[in-house]
Amino acid sequence: MGLPAMAIVLLMALLQTGTAAAETRAFSKARDAITEPSHAQYEYIVVGGGTAGCAIAATLSEHYKVLLLERGGTPYGNPSIERLEGWADLLRDDPTESSERSPIQAFRSADGVHNRRARVLGGGSAINAGFYNRASDAEVRAAGWKPKSVQEAYEWVEERIASPASLGPWQKALKNGLVQAGVTPDNGLTYEHIQGTKLGHSIFDAQGRRHTAADLLFSANDELLTVLTFASAQRIIFNVSDENKQPRATGVEYTDSRNATHFAYLQDGFQNEVILSAGALGSPQLLLLSGIGSCEHLAEFNITCHVDLSAVGAEMVDNPINAIVLVSPNPLETSLISVAGITHEGVVIEGASGGNWTWQWPGMGQLNIFPPLERSVEMISLVQTNLQNLSSNTKEQIDQSGFILSKVYDPISSGTLRLKSRDVSQNPYVKFNYYTHPRDVETCIRGVKYLHKLLQTPAFQGFRYTTVTPIIALLYPELSSSEGERTDGAYIPDLKNRTETANWCRDTVTTIWHFHGGCVLGKVVDKRYRVFGVRSLRVVDGSTFTKSPGTNPQATVMMLGRYVGVRMLKDRKIAEETVNSRN
Ligand SMILES: Cc1cc2nc3c(=O)[nH]c(=O)nc-3n(C[C@H](O)[C@H](O)[C@H](O)COP(=O)(O)OP(=O)(O)OC[C@H]3O[C@@H](n4cnc5c(N)ncnc54)[C@H](O)[C@@H]3O)c2cc1C
Ligand SMILES: *[C@@H]1O[C@H](CO)[C@@H](O)[C@H](O)[C@H]1NC(C)=O
Ligand SMILES: *[C@@H]1O[C@H](CO)[C@@H](O)[C@H](O)[C@H]1NC(C)=O
Ligand SMILES: *[C@@H]1O[C@H](CO)[C@@H](O)[C@H](O)[C@H]1NC(C)=O
Ligand SMILES: *[C@@H]1O[C@H](CO)[C@@H](O)[C@H](O)[C@H]1NC(C)=O
Ligand SMILES: *[C@@H]1O[C@H](CO)[C@@H](O)[C@H](O)[C@H]1NC(C)=O
Ligand SMILES: *[C@@H]1O[C@H](CO)[C@@H](O)[C@H](O)[C@H]1NC(C)=O
Repeated sequence: MGLPAMAIVLLMALLQTGTAAAETRAFSKARDAITEPSHAQYEYIVVGGGTAGCAIAATLSEHYKVLLLERGGTPYGNPSIERLEGWADLLRDDPTESSERSPIQAFRSADGVHNRRARVLGGGSAINAGFYNRASDAEVRAAGWKPKSVQEAYEWVEERIASPASLGPWQKALKNGLVQAGVTPDNGLTYEHIQGTKLGHSIFDAQGRRHTAADLLFSANDELLTVLTFASAQRIIFNVSDENKQPRATGVEYTDSRNATHFAYLQDGFQNEVILSAGALGSPQLLLLSGIGSCEHLAEFNITCHVDLSAVGAEMVDNPINAIVLVSPNPLETSLISVAGITHEGVVIEGASGGNWTWQWPGMGQLNIFPPLERSVEMISLVQTNLQNLSSNTKEQIDQSGFILSKVYDPISSGTLRLKSRDVSQNPYVKFNYYTHPRDVETCIRGVKYLHKLLQTPAFQGFRYTTVTPIIALLYPELSSSEGERTDGAYIPDLKNRTETANWCRDTVTTIWHFHGGCVLGKVVDKRYRVFGVRSLRVVDGSTFTKSPGTNPQATVMMLGRYVGVRMLKDRKIAEETVNSRN
């Protein structure tokens, strides 16, 4: 380690001691579910301590007794989670589903694309790339949200966890390059999702320290909120005894890390509810396991069907990305996403740099050099071995690289989620059908055009080799015979042949982990996020989206948790006052 690197490590150590107080606070708030009695009662039970779940639990606890159940542990004290440089290690962690204590649960969709879901307090915000941006006004209108309350909810989140993203030399080149490539205007630093190039915000602060949605729990009412970790919800319990009325959610059955079963019930009383915030895979899965879904599908698993609602698990969408890796002759910073090019042609361009990601990429699930169905676990480890075996000289060169992605912003292709077993800890079956709709392929091709332009911009010349180096041959041997331009590690089709470019889109597709749907607004939940066909149950998280909002979604997921929580407090107050005035 060189001297500057040592200095950075020392500085980091100092910064970490400075925030120890905050960590202790968080630790005292969450406790292991094994400490809980087998029966307890609450006014609200929130299932899933993720990006939305933490926001809504903190909000409801302002006035009511709330239980928050999270199947994973806490994010505090884990350097891979808390430090920006730890991100590759974090995502590389546990490529199988084996370790129940890992903050990551890997899954592979039936499309073949390797993917990741969170299993930790803070949810996706504890494992993501940190980029933080609001939804557009049009998206807010389409969702039927009240703009003023939306604004307040975003601000509530931002005061607690957002900072301007940092802008090192490589991200600066990306920003200038995007403007030079015609992604205009330059909108500077902004939260907004508007056409042009912008510097965004991040949940990593200027010191590279992550602030997850779990930090929103600092604003909870400690007296009224119980947070349990390693508490895995098995099913929602319904009272179906009154034949004239819809089933009513009355509690949640969950297990702790010793596999003991606990029951959390709603207190008898006015307007108490269960809120499902288990994410785009977890929420539809739990509804199905609880008997809400296609009765025919549930019969395959001998699950008693309470509500025949085939929309549960439908409209699963994951935004496809296609990426290039650009090896740089000049040093570049370790960065996660800071800048976005929002084009008017349906693609968003973002990038990350340094941090060894190039050769860790296969282990992170982003192996895009084979078509999705060929990305077997064996293939990944073979590629990794090949990469590990490179000379240290070559490795150093490869480390010095950037990753630029083009994301289809609003894909039409969608798929489904189904149960694979009755065991909630097993991933459900999910298929996203990337690029099955021809319009999505057309959008991808437009993205490739922008990538070409970007590579040619003056701003980017310092960060790309102008000649093909042997590194590419090592990284992408199977591409040696392909047509198309090979730009120093960035294999990119030449666009002359549309069929070939379309094939490239399908064959190199990976995920930016913005998967959503499964409990969508209007089909599974009503405008107030109440599940159709039952009482006292809502779903509030990314599973309700028909479209991933904002440049990247997490800001809006947290906003939604706050927004619905505030709305529930207001509605309940009015309803209780009405009852009191009648009495
Ligand atoms: C690797 C990665 C990178 C990303 N990068 C970005 C980015 O840079 N910017 C951005 O805006 N977005 C990013 N995203 C997307 C964003 O993080 C997600 O869209 C968002 O976190 C989803 O929030 P959610 O509340 O719907 O679900 P989650 O945050 O996943 O919350 C669900 C929670 O429920 C828990 N749970 C599930 N089942 C159960 C159960 N049975 N019992 C108890 N608990 C349960 C889970 O453990 C989890 O904590 C990224 C996502 C990933 C995975
Ligand atoms: C179910 O609801 C009915 C009223 O509709 C009530 O009488 C009964 O006690 C409830 N059962 C349970 C187990 O909560
Ligand atoms: C947990 O309990 C369930 C049901 O009792 C059982 O099927 C399962 O094997 C147990 N799992 C572990 C890890 O003990
Ligand atoms: C469902 O129940 C039937 C009859 O009891 C049994 O044969 C079958 O194996 C069960 N299926 C599952 C998936 O549990
Ligand atoms: C990259 O990996 C090498 C080998 O494991 C390591 O020596 C180096 O410190 C890493 N660089 C960064 C920026 O993490
Ligand atoms: C990697 O190198 C080791 C020894 O250095 C060798 O045994 C192994 O075969 C190599 N693996 C590959 C895939 O080349
Ligand atoms: C375009 O590419 C496809 C697929 O690689 C190939 O089959 C076809 O012959 C090419 N067409 C032309 C005109 O080169």
